[in-house]
Amino acid sequence: MSRCAAAAGAIAILAVAGLAQAQVGPPSPAGLVRARQVTLDLSAIANGSMRDAMKTGREAKTQAYAAMTLAKWARILPTLFPTGTGQGETDVKTQALPAVWRDRAGFEKAAAGYAAAADRLADLAKANDTEGFKAQLDELSHACDVCHATYKEGDRGPK
Ligand code: HEC
Repeated sequence: MSRCAAAAGAIAILAVAGLAQAQVGPPSPAGLVRARQVTLDLSAIANGSMRDAMKTGREAKTQAYAAMTLAKWARILPTLFPTGTGQGETDVKTQALPAVWRDRAGFEKAAAGYAAAADRLADLAKANDTEGFKAQLDELSHACDVCHATYKEGDRGPK
């Protein structure tokens, strides 16, 4: 086979492979509700495991990965609440109150406050400031509560 024919064959194979690619759409609104609920559950788990680590006397630097992950995720969080994913809008039960969309600026502000608290937590972990890290964990939980107080059903306000 000439080089040219080999190249043509390779191109034909690539073209067929291209056509065979499955067309996968973005998540459905119901899928997004499930995705945000799971990531919120995972955040609660990360938060709890950082607290446990402090109780068992570990150093802040051992928690840098968890803190950095929450800081990254804090920026994704509000994007998982697009229009059309509120109560009664999908067949998935959601605790997101209508205020998430009615007062979008406030919701984004609560998310930004949470992101800032998580950034600070990650910085303290990297600096291995264990006492500072412990105190900042309370700030982080407070940022969760502040948002829940207004935007999540079933929470009565910051503790
Ligand atoms: C910017 C607002 C906001 C922040 C910040 C926030 N949450 Fe939430 N959270 C919500 C909303 C709104 C819901 C309801 C989501 C739904 O049911 O669709 C929720 C739901 C949850 C749930 C229930 C998930 C489920 O399976 O139904 C948990 C657990 C949770 N949050 C934990 C946390 C923790 C822990 C933090 C901080 C580390 C946090 N949240 C920060 C707004 C927020």
